[in-house]
Amino acid sequence: TILIVDFGSQVTQLIARRVREAGVYSEIVPFQSADAALDRLRPRGVILSGGPASVTHSDTPRAPEGLFSMGVPVLGICYGQQTMVAQLGGSVTTSDHQEFGRAFVDVQEPCGLFDGIWETGTREQVWMSHGDHVDALPDGFRVVATSEGAPFAAIADDARHFYGLQFHPEVVHTPHGAALLARFAREICGCAGDWSMAGFREAKIADIRAQVGDGKVICGLSGGVDSSVVAVLLHEAIGDRLTCVFVDHGLMRQGEADQVVSLFREHYHINLVHRDASDLFLGALAGVSDPEVKRKTIGKLFIDVFEEEAAAVGGADFLAQGTLYPDVIESVSFTGGPSVTIKSHHNVGGLPERMRMALVEPLRELFKDEVRALGRELGLPDAFVGRHPFPGPGLAIRIPGGITREKCDILRKADAIYLEEIRNAGLYDSIWQAFAVLLPVKTVGVMGDARTYDHVCGLRAVTSTDGMTADYYPFPHDFLGRVATRIINEVRGINRVVYDITSKPPGTIEWE
Ligand code: XMP
Repeated sequence: TILIVDFGSQVTQLIARRVREAGVYSEIVPFQSADAALDRLRPRGVILSGGPASVTHSDTPRAPEGLFSMGVPVLGICYGQQTMVAQLGGSVTTSDHQEFGRAFVDVQEPCGLFDGIWETGTREQVWMSHGDHVDALPDGFRVVATSEGAPFAAIADDARHFYGLQFHPEVVHTPHGAALLARFAREICGCAGDWSMAGFREAKIADIRAQVGDGKVICGLSGGVDSSVVAVLLHEAIGDRLTCVFVDHGLMRQGEADQVVSLFREHYHINLVHRDASDLFLGALAGVSDPEVKRKTIGKLFIDVFEEEAAAVGGADFLAQGTLYPDVIESVSFTGGPSVTIKSHHNVGGLPERMRMALVEPLRELFKDEVRALGRELGLPDAFVGRHPFPGPGLAIRIPGGITREKCDILRKADAIYLEEIRNAGLYDSIWQAFAVLLPVKTVGVMGDARTYDHVCGLRAVTSTDGMTADYYPFPHDFLGRVATRIINEVRGINRVVYDITSKPPGTIEWE
């Protein structure tokens, strides 16, 4: 294991990713818990992340004092480099010359970290983001690379295996950064580099068995990637002591509820409770047009129905959730101590507190695409693993204004045609999310000799890497023309189709 100590950089998670891509398991801990983590994990190496604070102030975070005498290799990045230097007897200053963005370093001398990656005398592109820099080295260190704004851009103490980088090797704008991190984890720390999803699967199954014992587990299944992977993994670990509850709010896409039921019940033979609660949800949503009220209504009902079904099953000792790494990682705050950011996950947000059950969260260490890789490893069909994200409140937030069963049916048909055409054109995997929206606007049209007065359908497709920002997808016009013709001809109730070309920001991906 490589332990990553987080000093609050925006890109700490990328360090973990890069290390795992090198086949080495890594865990991030906030600097406040670093001491305990060193004891618990006995890591082969430690990486100190960047962070927004300044080492020149005395009340800012430091690495655990004991770290530097444990005999394990340490790599300090940006703030991590600076605190390592300060703690070992060197010094750091705040300079006038700040560097942000692309920069170049001159490789001055060979060192263990650069071996086979950067040659002495070359100029290498890196990504910098710093105001402070090191200005005097502790004993044992030497400068191995320099840049205009950072005379100590890379420093090394090969004897102790301590390295410091002023730049960020974890971001893609440092082209050889991944190789440097891989070299640190494998060659310098001596990790084998054989960590893989197959190994993760075995290790997690053992963890789940150890945690659950003879207990019973209940798991909310939505048909999304995360909960599907959790369900299959748990079933592999504890078999029939797992019960999945699929609360069907009637706001799923066409055919989706059937697919979930047949995959999990018929293919995997998982105990699955399928509760068709569409009347309940649609009843509660009648006359509701405010998007946040829709979300709250759905979230609350979801918990009620889930609890009912859990009780009907005869109770359980554990609740399994598809919480991912970005949902749980503790963010480091310098104003009011550490703060924990936990996103409400799908619609299961309020469940753990209400049900007072212990949680089983086997995906806590994984990023989204690692979850997909695990899903493939578990044999989940591509249609599940590669599925576009779908919001918990489902079609409710794709029908601005009031929701009726009839509107849901109209939207489902249009959406299915749109997605079918996207798949036929081979574009599904290049798009982050694509869906149709049913607008609360009627417009006039003419079909044959008759006047029509029907709804407008909006089409949305975006590219994105994380859903935080997005660009509209540039479909060819003939593709859009084909989809529009099919929707208008095949879906009663829609007589006009428009394509949304708003980016996020300023728009959002969903219309509500
Ligand atoms: P926005 O519309 O905010 O969406 O740009 C960003 C991502 O979040 C999804 N989304 C939701 N997911 N419950 C969810 O589980 C919600 O209430 C919700 N609202 C938006 C959206 O589909 C996109 O992937």
